[in-house]
Amino acid sequence: MDIAVIGSNMVDLISYINRMPGDGETVEAPDFALGCGGKGANQAVAAARLGSAVRMVTRVGNDLFADNTVANFERNGIDTTYVLRTAATSGVAPIFVNPDSQNSIIIVQGANSLLTPADIDAAAAEISRCKLIVLQLEIPLETVYYAIEFGVKHGIDVLLNPAPAQPDLLLSRVRACTYFTPNESELSLLTGMPVETIPDVRNAAHTLLEAGMRNVIVTLGGRGVLWVADGVDMLLPATPVEAVDTTGAGDAFIGCFSHYVVATGDIEYSLRMANRYAADSVTKRGTQTSYASKEEFALLHS
Ligand code: RIB
Ligand code: NA
Repeated sequence: MDIAVIGSNMVDLISYINRMPGDGETVEAPDFALGCGGKGANQAVAAARLGSAVRMVTRVGNDLFADNTVANFERNGIDTTYVLRTAATSGVAPIFVNPDSQNSIIIVQGANSLLTPADIDAAAAEISRCKLIVLQLEIPLETVYYAIEFGVKHGIDVLLNPAPAQPDLLLSRVRACTYFTPNESELSLLTGMPVETIPDVRNAAHTLLEAGMRNVIVTLGGRGVLWVADGVDMLLPATPVEAVDTTGAGDAFIGCFSHYVVATGDIEYSLRMANRYAADSVTKRGTQTSYASKEEFALLHS
């Protein structure tokens, strides 16, 4: 196995709206799509579509969504040994995409909130054979902290995508990760610093290096991605595209980066590929439905 994603899965209930209803108001929306989502699952699917061998450690509920989620992992060639059934609802994400292709998301963690350090222990033998552990913040923070400690103990690289923004995240407990990948608002929340301009973003990212992080990768949407590390400060431009639906673009980026960094060990190259992969995903509707396969992606950048 190349990658262990220890994280969330959700069912995305995507309404394409003209506008949000106010309190007590009902509005009609022109379109709807049901899809598999959740940041962990999305990142796993992107990496697997690009050819990585991926193991998913996650909890699904005991409802009609669970079988579909498991089948989706299997269709994408993801190992589901540690996709655990739980007496809870599956995680769901009602998503609203407006005519400007911007999204608003409500997350109900459901079974994801029951993923524990003991679940990592149960999968320890398999996780310890992976080259990269990938984490997000749609599971309990204690589980995230434990997974980072597990990675350190076993000498496995760890990528932490601190999304969605979590004010309670303790930097002192995550700074041992290999790659830390906030977007601009997560960076601002975690550092308490402004991120309006690129120099602002740089300053904030550098404080994380000073706090002991090794690679801080800030995703800036249309402004590209900033990578800072010891002796490195690199702003890579975004690939310009016509956005249709930006939902899950951040996950496309992380999944693609994870795939290439494990396959090549070349961070800059992996970031460039991830930029292109994420850009392609925003030109199509939905989350996982917009992630290119290895073959489709090869055509895009040939
Ligand atoms: O990052 C996008 C994802 O966030 C969606 O798939 C939704 O499930 C939420 O978790
Ligand atoms: Na998309």
